[in-house]
Amino acid sequence: MIAKHIDKLAPSGIRQFFDLVLGMPEVISLGVGEPDFVTPWRIREKAITSLEEGFTSYTSNSGLFCLREGISEHLNKKYNLAYSPKDNILITVGVSEGLDLALRAILEPKDSVIVVTPYYVAYPAMVEINHGRPLFLKTRAEEGFKINLKDLKELLKHNPKAMILNYPANPTGVTYAKDELKAIWKLLAKTETFLITDEVYDELTYDGRHCPFASLDKKAKERTILLNGFSKGHAMTGFRVGYACADKKIIDAMTKIHSFSMLCGPIIGQMAAVEALLAKREVQTMVRAYRQRRDFMVRELNRLGLKTNKPSGAFYCFSNVSTEAMDFAKSLLFQEKVAVVPGAGFGSEFNQYIRISYANSLDNLKEAVIRIERFLNKQNGTNQKNSGR
Ligand SMILES: Cc1ncc(COP(=O)(O)O)c(C=O)c1O
Repeated sequence: MIAKHIDKLAPSGIRQFFDLVLGMPEVISLGVGEPDFVTPWRIREKAITSLEEGFTSYTSNSGLFCLREGISEHLNKKYNLAYSPKDNILITVGVSEGLDLALRAILEPKDSVIVVTPYYVAYPAMVEINHGRPLFLKTRAEEGFKINLKDLKELLKHNPKAMILNYPANPTGVTYAKDELKAIWKLLAKTETFLITDEVYDELTYDGRHCPFASLDKKAKERTILLNGFSKGHAMTGFRVGYACADKKIIDAMTKIHSFSMLCGPIIGQMAAVEALLAKREVQTMVRAYRQRRDFMVRELNRLGLKTNKPSGAFYCFSNVSTEAMDFAKSLLFQEKVAVVPGAGFGSEFNQYIRISYANSLDNLKEAVIRIERFLNKQNGTNQKNSGR
């Protein structure tokens, strides 16, 4: 009954693990991939007044024009990127819908798409849902989980239709400086591969400045479908607002699909997003808090012997636990009530890693570190006893 390509799709490893967490009391969850902050008040207030004023209808399929104008101005001011609000911007239901639309618009059955590992869980699944084949580009801890250009060159020989590039990255927090992006583009420029860049964490960049791939040069911009949104930087996951920027032909194709499948994004979310573009101070306050938490967690995890590279963005640490991570995560959950995500969900080769989200209060993070330390001490004690037998 079920379409074969859907039937064979593995359910999300993260979901399965978090089914265990549900209903357990006193758990400190370092598992969730969303801000712990409530949406800043001025954005919520705008949503409330919009409702009071009766904004309850559909919007244009492309999204509110004033929001597209605001996004166009924002990208121009911040990144010197010119996208026309009329031709080059589509408002989507989060980056999630933008990704789906981009893939639907360009993929033919069996086209391959490069997915960098460790990956955001939706990428390989969305490629497969859209009848494509993920081609995995593996990164390694000893190379800071950054793309290895030789490996990329090899994969490009398969003539992939697209490459999904996410930075700052979930789950590693890795980001790329302009020179590194230029080196990647130098290889891709010789091909016809599209870039689908997921830049949803751009505001949450702690070291250096975020550089959108499309800002590298005119040709890179033509080849890029830039995805972004308000979920992470503005703490607006529940509002479901994202956007896609690309060449008119691509945006037209994505809008065509969107107009049949979704009609439009929710109007209240879009009204709130117009205000969010003005909430720079509020975003900065959250960024400062995340940076402080990152510094604390990286220091503490390394002190505890869980090897962790310093993430430059997003709000995750990707830590090596030197043992089977699913067992580690389950024991940590049952013994000390700390939930972390086992790494195999981000690529099977990461089964000795855990993802720890520091989108949580510093007090909770401090308590979590105490519990993790107690857990590790107990584990070390057991191991020593066993080896002494
Ligand atoms: C890399 C990445 N892309 C996209 C999303 C989903 O974003 P949205 O809420 O805009 O659909 C997430 C959420 O965790 C993410 O980590």
